[in-house]
Amino acid sequence: MPVKLKTKPDLSINFAGIKLKNPVLTASGTFGYGEEFADFVDLNKLGGVIVKGVSLKPIKGNPPPRIWETPSGMLNAIGLENPGVDVFINQKLPYLRQFDTAVIVNVFGYSLEEYVGVVERLDAVSGVSGIEVNISCPNVKAGGIVFGTNVKSAFGLLSAVRKATKLPLIAKLSPNVTDITEFARAARDAGCDGLSLINTLIGMAIDVRCHKPRLANCTGGLSGPAIRPVAVRMVWQAAKAVPLPIIGMGGIVTGEDALEFILAGASAVAVGTANFVNPRATLDVITGMENLLREQNVSDIKTLIGKVNAR
Ligand SMILES: Cc1cc2nc3c(=O)[nH]c(=O)nc-3n(C[C@H](O)[C@H](O)[C@H](O)COP(=O)(O)O)c2cc1C
Repeated sequence: MPVKLKTKPDLSINFAGIKLKNPVLTASGTFGYGEEFADFVDLNKLGGVIVKGVSLKPIKGNPPPRIWETPSGMLNAIGLENPGVDVFINQKLPYLRQFDTAVIVNVFGYSLEEYVGVVERLDAVSGVSGIEVNISCPNVKAGGIVFGTNVKSAFGLLSAVRKATKLPLIAKLSPNVTDITEFARAARDAGCDGLSLINTLIGMAIDVRCHKPRLANCTGGLSGPAIRPVAVRMVWQAAKAVPLPIIGMGGIVTGEDALEFILAGASAVAVGTANFVNPRATLDVITGMENLLREQNVSDIKTLIGKVNAR
């Protein structure tokens, strides 16, 4: 019978210069701007909050229905609804600043200039620990090519954003590509400090009685436990390809799920869709990880990063 660790394991991580008391973050778009979940979760307990995507101007989002639950994951087509960067800075950020937790701002735009504009504004204020760039957006100026699925566009975008801020810069990669390592390398070459992966996988569901798509937008992003094996595989591939620290996400519900990502090479994790099922999922993941470390006599989580054994 192995001896169980008596002391509290060290869960702290320095992620690309961002100090996290534990590696558990909230996935963008699933935890609002923190305040929405504050009745359920003491935000001081989280490693950090990655907020809902912020753009230069307010965006209304897609018409309903915008969410469809399938037997194996959730489809969403929210359409990146948000109040815009100025409202975020003046009304949302002051609330988050009160807590002892990292604040990572997820940003996006429909042109390179929009991305740069948002990042410049965030760079000028205090209380932002880092920026996560969602590159899964179509570039309207370049005929709708999605930045995140074209390596050249991704590199160009991330290089421009890099010049606009000294804050830690994390590229959030799309899984809707053939080779994730090309995009991991493009992010590294553009000067990013870290990676986040994965965003949702594009999916579709159809109502066979009225013969219409379930979502008004027709297609949506698939998330939840169904995508976890794809996400773990991509984190593992990206971690082997580049030395950047990674925030792993996709279907994390328990501490065990989170540890899978750490062993695959992630230095931190983000909990997304699970927050809709259980608003305290992030806290359960922290406790679950801590218990697993005790069970395995591991005193420091850092020693497990990327330590999946060969078979
Ligand atoms: C309703 C919803 C909204 C989301 N909004 C964003 C967003 O604004 N920016 C972003 O980069 N990712 C967004 N995502 C993707 C999540 O952050 C995460 O990458 C993805 O859902 C996979 O994790 P999960 O399976 O734990 O949810 C959203 C996901 C959902 C379900």
